[in-house]
Amino acid sequence: MEFERAASVHPTPMTDPFGRRINYLRVSVTDRCDFRCVYCMAENMTFLPKADLLTLEELDRLCSAFIARGVRKLRLTGGEPLVRRGIMTLVRSLSRHLGDGSLDELTLTTNGSQLSRYADELAECGVKRINVSLDTRDADKFRAITRWGELDKVLGGIDGARAAGLAVKINAVALKGVNEDEFPALLEWAHGSGMDLTIIEVMPLGDVGEQRLDQYLPLSMVRARLASRYTLEDIDYRTGGPARYVRVKETGGRLGFITPLTHNFCESCNRVRLTCTGTLYMCLGQEDAADLRSPLRASEANDLLYAAMDEAIARKPKGHDFVIDRRHKRPALARHMSVTGG
Ligand SMILES: C[S@@+](CC[C@H](N)C(=O)[O-])C[C@H]1O[C@@H](n2cnc3c(N)ncnc32)[C@H](O)[C@@H]1O
Ligand code: SF4
Repeated sequence: MEFERAASVHPTPMTDPFGRRINYLRVSVTDRCDFRCVYCMAENMTFLPKADLLTLEELDRLCSAFIARGVRKLRLTGGEPLVRRGIMTLVRSLSRHLGDGSLDELTLTTNGSQLSRYADELAECGVKRINVSLDTRDADKFRAITRWGELDKVLGGIDGARAAGLAVKINAVALKGVNEDEFPALLEWAHGSGMDLTIIEVMPLGDVGEQRLDQYLPLSMVRARLASRYTLEDIDYRTGGPARYVRVKETGGRLGFITPLTHNFCESCNRVRLTCTGTLYMCLGQEDAADLRSPLRASEANDLLYAAMDEAIARKPKGHDFVIDRRHKRPALARHMSVTGG
């Protein structure tokens, strides 16, 4: 099934006040998840009422409006995108933009739990690469980090994705005292299987019921330790996201670092984030947001929506100001990563 194409009125590309062209949209299609990762969610999360969610048709229309305004890369995330009911209907529908050349890439970030079920269909829809989050390959640690996850299921999902021809990038969050000794093993495994690995610094988003300072491990330290063991060569490779990559000479594989705290990645920021209720966040690290659900629902034409998008992009801030230190014991932002998507 394909949703109806939204009407467009001579749309122009979106450029923010700092001259950054906005061509990357990340969409959190649900705030729900089948895991409860300790750095992402509290064990007893309150989720958004289902009645507040955009329908799949509305999500399609919103994404298509962004594509009409110059978005070339679309990433579905969450929460866990693959637990949203009917998600493949949305993926299939959005894939028409790949077909007509208005979109370069349709991709997703997933915890991998549902991948064995969906990998073939994702590949059929033109998805070429996906990110799978995996912080450890130790089953007990995996359970401790995700609270509810099963490592075998995720590893099976990764195998399924690769068998379907999808390129897989592994994302691992660096957690002090939890997986900090495991990066060489993760790297050897990922690179040995032809997958890139990206290490992410923990960000102070949402109250997760644990002190951030206990989780925070600066990537400068992770990198220094890896550099004492491997030859890390800076490379220019970019995926349109915030990671900075090196080539590991010994494995031949790519290793990315996402370092929001030790290095600010804002000056080249090309993206905005949409939640499953139609709220647009212009920056992952700031509270300011714009409601796109009202203009979307107010009219079948896109004029009001485009005006609201323009108004929002005009407010995109220069950067975030995350801090984790002893004077900032509360989360820098109240909202959880699962609301805005990673
Ligand atoms: C919010 S998840 C959503 C997609 C999917 N459920 C998954 O886990 O891949 C996206 C990414 O954000 C990361 N993440 C979640 N909370 C984080 C935090 N506080 N700091 C840094 N990364 C975080 C996760 O590890 C994951 O790689
Ligand atoms: S990081 Fe992803 S898998 Fe883990 S709780 Fe958050 S949304 Fe779920």
